[in-house]
Amino acid sequence: MYKRMFDIDTRMIIWREATISGEGTPMNIRTMYLAVVLLITAGLSSCDKPEQPQSRKVTYADDVEPIIQKHCAECHVTGQQGARASGLLMDSYESLMKGTPFGQVINPGSAMSSSLYILISGKDKLTITMPHGKKPLSDEEIETIRDWIENGAVEN
Ligand code: HEC
Repeated sequence: MYKRMFDIDTRMIIWREATISGEGTPMNIRTMYLAVVLLITAGLSSCDKPEQPQSRKVTYADDVEPIIQKHCAECHVTGQQGARASGLLMDSYESLMKGTPFGQVINPGSAMSSSLYILISGKDKLTITMPHGKKPLSDEEIETIRDWIENGAVEN
């Protein structure tokens, strides 16, 4: 009944394997490269908005549900096209965490391996993005969802 349009899981696994194996680059060069990247990142983040607390608490009820109500719920409730095409209901925390008949769309703790985040972030060359055929979410909304998933996708 449901047809999967793409296969994120396989691509993520291939990407991870490539990252771990380093694709033949000698270890010392990779380590040096990593050290340089870390130094630059540390340097950049230390001058970047120093007063902002890093661990903002993001919850489904306070932060994520309003975004979903605004941009997603119209299609991902029983009978509407998003629910019919993918099986994904987004009318409650439970149904969102349950995902589709193929499995979860949120992997608590890892936005980059959550298909929901990949689809809204537009950072990946996919043939579909969400919301389907509509204006993308704002950067702030995308970051809220990312932080929520990274912090464990809690309900309250
Ligand atoms: C206009 C209708 C519509 C809106 C709005 C919409 N979707 Fe969808 N969604 C769909 C359709 C249709 C599909 C099935 C795939 C396709 O045909 O693009 C889908 C599929 C998905 C899937 C894929 C499930 C899978 O793994 O197969 C996810 C995740 C998803 N939507 C998340 C969202 C999120 C998050 C939002 C809000 C930001 C959203 N959708 C808004 C129509 C919609």
